[in-house]
Amino acid sequence: MDRSRTRILVDGGNPQETERIKQRLGFVDGQTTNPSLIAKNPHIQQLLASGHKLSEREAMDEYKKIVRSISPLVGDAGVSIEVFSDRTTTARQMCEQAKEMYGWIPNAFIKYPCTAEGLRAAHLSVRQGMRVNITLCFSQQQAAAVYAATMGTTAPVYVSPFVGRLDDIGQNGMDLIENIKRMYAKGDGHVLVLAASIRSLDHLLYSFYLDSDLVTVPAETLVVWAENKCPMPAKEFQYKPRGQRISYQELDLEQSWETFDIRHELTSKGIDKFVEDYRKTITSS
Ligand code: E4P
Repeated sequence: MDRSRTRILVDGGNPQETERIKQRLGFVDGQTTNPSLIAKNPHIQQLLASGHKLSEREAMDEYKKIVRSISPLVGDAGVSIEVFSDRTTTARQMCEQAKEMYGWIPNAFIKYPCTAEGLRAAHLSVRQGMRVNITLCFSQQQAAAVYAATMGTTAPVYVSPFVGRLDDIGQNGMDLIENIKRMYAKGDGHVLVLAASIRSLDHLLYSFYLDSDLVTVPAETLVVWAENKCPMPAKEFQYKPRGQRISYQELDLEQSWETFDIRHELTSKGIDKFVEDYRKTITSS
């Protein structure tokens, strides 16, 4: 198969699914997980169906088992493990979880939300050589803050702009990938763009076209891609924009990260949804 430069990750929480995709494609470069995807894991669903809710410790242990099964299946893009955070979780609390999670597997990336506390945690983590993935990114300002907060690191940093959720609110999510790539082209290359919330073959092909460094894709979409013989976009590939265009902003990547406006309603909503799905699986609420 003609590989694009874009690394392909499975967006999910089920090792069997990753294995199936690997057999189908012949490779999987990496995997992203999140609390909602982990809650959907078949074993966790089975436990819940039998009336067993998990303690917080059991939830951590189940998450560990899942990523340990996925870890050897994937390539150099690693496995992203998300810290549990609500709107009040501090950077220190996130870092404590990260310390444990990072030791679970040799190819972990710690996922922090794109909030002030999440970026503070990322800033501290990369200084200790930890690989991080900043999730729930919905704006160019947020991506600029990710860049500035992690400047000087030698550890790889991912930023995950969520395409589909921007489409959902009537904005053309793929513009954000294009704008961030354009902005980062002026930087030192220490942050890689991981296109996320991919919902269609078109999203996937346009991510290749835009040379996104990585793309994380649900298994169903990868199956559609495989059924179509894993096409790559032609030079004249045209993407049909969904909704309002997102315009490019001139931003100074050398600015201190605290000076960027990183607020976004979808980041807050995304955190709430992860908390809700996680809470459904545990005893205390
Ligand atoms: C990325 O890391 C997320 O897990 C994912 O792409 C979210 O996708 P969704 O918007 O379809 O939930």
